Amino acid sequence: MYAQMVKSEATNDDPEKLAAFQARIDAGEKIEPKDWMPEGYRKTLVRQIGQHAHSEIVGQLPEGNWITRAPTLERKAILLAKVQDEAGHGLYLYCAAETLGVSRDDLTEALLSGKMKYSSIFNYPTLTWADMGAVGWLVDGAAIMNQVPLQRTSFGPYARAMVRICKEESFHQRQGYDIMMKMAFGTPAQKAMAQDALNRFWYPSLMMFGPSDKDSVHSAQSMAWRIKMNTNDELRQKFVDQTVPQAEYLGLTIPDPAVVWNAEKGGYDYSEPDWTEFFEVIKGNGPCNAERIAARQKAWDDGAWVRDGLMAHARKRAGAQVAAE
Ligand code: 3HC
Repeated sequence: MYAQMVKSEATNDDPEKLAAFQARIDAGEKIEPKDWMPEGYRKTLVRQIGQHAHSEIVGQLPEGNWITRAPTLERKAILLAKVQDEAGHGLYLYCAAETLGVSRDDLTEALLSGKMKYSSIFNYPTLTWADMGAVGWLVDGAAIMNQVPLQRTSFGPYARAMVRICKEESFHQRQGYDIMMKMAFGTPAQKAMAQDALNRFWYPSLMMFGPSDKDSVHSAQSMAWRIKMNTNDELRQKFVDQTVPQAEYLGLTIPDPAVVWNAEKGGYDYSEPDWTEFFEVIKGNGPCNAERIAARQKAWDDGAWVRDGLMAHARKRAGAQVAAE
């Protein structure tokens, strides 16, 4: 079903309608669900919003892993709230995707069967409490860098979902940095844990922005449609420029000797991540892919009785309504 919804197909869109649509995009107008849109635009949105929604939901798992082991009651409450926020983000995004004529069930089935992706970052394990700091600081930091511009994306429901999501992500980033400050300014052992977490999450965080521009399949068309507002490399550079001084403040070292200020370009130089590793992870061969999908499959199977019950109730109500009319 999902393959039918997003498979690429020669577009038979009327050239006049296409030109009028592009003019609306170029004028900065929002496209709403009932407006005419090219099939490719709809499919690109279903792919991106669906993948984004799955990332929020799967993204609960690496942090959920630490709720029972948070060092204090306060940290536990904060982490619990953050993980709940991610569930909410997933729900706003599934709702935005539903306005494009795709059901949440179809999207979930596409995730579970491996037809749809979710962010590569969530296939890395969270081994210590310092990882909660690194995830909030770096992963949520990278997510915001990508999502702030998406508040201006051309599709209305996606842009509006992003406004609320970005507010919450910025709290997430701050709480992660706060954990890093406690660790980095703590005992030598705590500082070593913070450094180790930075070492492990640095390159996977850079990968979140997607392949380098020369290998990005969708960027050109998505930017013309204002589904994406920046290229992958533009956002990655902004993230590096924002993060390096934050690491310096913490007294931590970015695990890349090539990170030096380049006055000519007005940004930091840095080494590319290992793109072979990235493509393996998004193919399903990362350290935690099997575990993440197994957890989602279990949640889906365990929730079957709730979905069945709700559907039976909805059918009964619809039947009663028809009988009354
Ligand atoms: N993880 C998994 N797959 C990725 C990826 C990543 N980090 N980056 C790229 N890909 C995939 C693409 O989906 C595409 O595969 P497909 O054709 O099968 O869908 C392929 O790699 C080629 O990449 P492109 O650059 O051509 O793809 P896009 O134009 O879609 O750009 C993107 C990738 C920048 C991630 C874009 O989709 C995007 O901006 N998405 C919205 C933001 C999003 O999904 N964020 C998830 C982050 S996690 C999060 O928000 C949770 C928070 O709580 C931390």
